[in-house]
Amino acid sequence: MALLDILHFPDQRLRLKAQPVTVMDEKTQQIVANMFETMYHFAGIGLAAVQVNIQKSIIVMDLSAEKNQPQCFINLKILAKQGKDKHEEGCLSVPGIYEKVARAKWIKIEALNQNGQLIQQELTGLPAICLQHELDHLNGKLFIDYVSALKLQRARAKLKKQQAEPL
Ligand code: NI
Repeated sequence: MALLDILHFPDQRLRLKAQPVTVMDEKTQQIVANMFETMYHFAGIGLAAVQVNIQKSIIVMDLSAEKNQPQCFINLKILAKQGKDKHEEGCLSVPGIYEKVARAKWIKIEALNQNGQLIQQELTGLPAICLQHELDHLNGKLFIDYVSALKLQRARAKLKKQQAEPL
């Protein structure tokens, strides 16, 4: 396994779109394993391949407190969505910025798991929010795209101030 570099905003490679995975070969398994290692290392709850400069439709996620429930979503599609939910989001590619984003409250998804089996799930709460956030990454979209420029400017200023403060 290997730790991968995470791209940080405003790196334009975060705007690239992922292509579907066509074969579940050893190389794909290696990417998945490296993405899990990278996500756990940086204490993220989800990671999309585009964030590590791999333009493939691969998402890894683990929402458990013990970090022992790895989930992998390949070629994720949202089949249906309903309702609205607003939660504070952060992102490994946009460190230090946390803003509320409106997402669908309920989603029905289809994807391949790590073994290449087709799965369908209905999700609400954090899993639903996280997968919508990660799927955006695969389409070159960041959560801060939903936040107003003014709010973002304030968040950046706050962050700069925090960084400037001595320990
Ligand atoms: Ni993110």
